[in-house]
Amino acid sequence: MAQTLTVLGLESSCDDTAAAVVRQSGVDRAEILSSIVYGQTELHSAYGGVVPELAARAHAEKLDQCVRDALSAAELTLAELDAVAVTAGPGLIGGVMSGVMCAKGICAATGLPLVGINHLAGHALTPRLTDAISFPFLMLLVSGGHCQYLLVRAPDDFTRLGGTIDDAPGEAFDKTARLLGLPQPGGPAVQAEAITGDPRRFRFPRPLLDRDDCNLSFSGLKTALLRQRDQIVAEKNGITRQDRADMCAGFQAAVADVLAEKTRRALRIYLAEGPSEPILAVAGGVAANTAIRGALESVADEMGTRFLAPPLALCTDNAAMIAYAGIERFRNGARDGMDLAARPRWPLDNISPALLGSGRKGAKA
Ligand code: KG4
Ligand code: ZN
Repeated sequence: MAQTLTVLGLESSCDDTAAAVVRQSGVDRAEILSSIVYGQTELHSAYGGVVPELAARAHAEKLDQCVRDALSAAELTLAELDAVAVTAGPGLIGGVMSGVMCAKGICAATGLPLVGINHLAGHALTPRLTDAISFPFLMLLVSGGHCQYLLVRAPDDFTRLGGTIDDAPGEAFDKTARLLGLPQPGGPAVQAEAITGDPRRFRFPRPLLDRDDCNLSFSGLKTALLRQRDQIVAEKNGITRQDRADMCAGFQAAVADVLAEKTRRALRIYLAEGPSEPILAVAGGVAANTAIRGALESVADEMGTRFLAPPLALCTDNAAMIAYAGIERFRNGARDGMDLAARPRWPLDNISPALLGSGRKGAKA
């Protein structure tokens, strides 16, 4: 009978300071006892992106309180925990170091074991936390910082089938919103505009569909949108609401088409391995987009695969996923010492060739 484990998780790799407590009794479904997230959106809003130095300082200031809040919401003390799991990369180094130092401090003071977690593994294992699914499954991470297909075989066994070679899709949504004078974060704003738009009026490129792999590219799409906007402005001296809605709809349709087609290819590779209960899971803020979600769901349907999207609060950055990944790794015997290093880059898959870029948080994978 597997042991009951209660693990504190810490996350501070980008612009969310988070702490959570997750418990798993034996092999039962894990339970989130608390999950606290302090976002930094306001702190960075004047700069048009995350400022690493500001982020690191805010993490360092907030982590202690965040841990206290997570423990009190879980009605537990440190003495009742079995381990501390912390994001040790990839991400913005100052933030990751804040988290790792905080976790080491707790472990040094209490004697609790320390487990370093790859942030991407946290995202990738989330469907096991929410739905207790079995390996192997296919995971598509789509956010402002990540975009990759992962074949997940075990808590420490990931194969990256492909990913973005430049921007992440959320980043492209954010830039599109900026170009069209819409608020940040751009994804929800662009989606709302697209509702009244005609996706067929402007034909934006579908990059890399001519290449028979699972890699994606979104930076050309943003350039095409910029050119289209400038052309309309030159012709009419400005853009109307309808022009804007049509551009949003065209852009969203292009992203959805590309993701759908590349997902079809990734699914083909995954299904060729003969999984007994095939599952396509998504994570990341962009998975909230109804058009994209719909497109992915129909590809999964068409290929006889179950589609799974965890609740949004667990799709975006959080510490419950880190605590849960900690439980999985701890059960497998993983323990880290006080020499655990913060790693700005940390590919999940050391075998597949490195990608050129992977979103606004820097080349992570
Ligand atoms: O996962 P997330 O909260 O943070 C990281 O980037 O890691 O994702 C945020 C991204 C932003 O770029 C935001 O514009 C995008 O997800 N997003 C959306 C939608 N909601 C959030 N993109 C498209 N459609 C949406 N409805
Ligand atoms: Zn993330």
